[in-house]
Amino acid sequence: AREIEADLTEVLVTEAEIHAKLAELARRIEADYDGRDLLLVGVLKGAVMVMADLARELRNHINMDWMAVSSYGAGTKSSGVVKILKDLDTDLTGRDVLIAEDIIDSGLTLSWLRENLESRGAASVEICALFRKPDAAKVEVDVKYVGFDIPNQFVVGYGLDFAERYRNLRDVAILAPHVYS
Ligand code: PRP
Ligand code: MN
Ligand code: MG
Repeated sequence: AREIEADLTEVLVTEAEIHAKLAELARRIEADYDGRDLLLVGVLKGAVMVMADLARELRNHINMDWMAVSSYGAGTKSSGVVKILKDLDTDLTGRDVLIAEDIIDSGLTLSWLRENLESRGAASVEICALFRKPDAAKVEVDVKYVGFDIPNQFVVGYGLDFAERYRNLRDVAILAPHVYS
């Protein structure tokens, strides 16, 4: 099989750094939600790794649910108009919801999602995003738990894909230009 490593220029964040950061975020989350059952909402497919590792770091009771969304409209990338491809199974009334995301790029997906979930009567809706690209922001999103601010480069791994590949890479790395140009 072709090796993933040949497609990367450098590792940006290692698996060990990711796990240390998720442990740190989990301690804050446990303290903030002391005694309240959390509903973790993962956004397919990028958030699969974050959800799996963050959930196992938490020592509180949690529930997990999933949404699949796709942006559509004029542009190729997020237009801010989002279509629900798979909705939650859970009634959000009175629930404390924590959205688990891999990355905030333009912010359009999450700003839409937060409003959508808030409109369902949740007691609270907060966001945990492992990565954020401040230089790519089109809308400001109030993110309570952020792992790493990273430069506006093409990063893959730990759930992040390019053309549906590289999600299985354990680290997060910068994609080599020859792959996408
Ligand atoms: C990626 C990423 C976030 C979103 C961030 O998902 O996982 O969900 O884009 O971009 P934004 O801040 O510009 O909205 P993508 O739509 O690629 O789907 P995927 O999770 O299945 O890879
Ligand atoms: Mn995604
Ligand atoms: Mg993607």
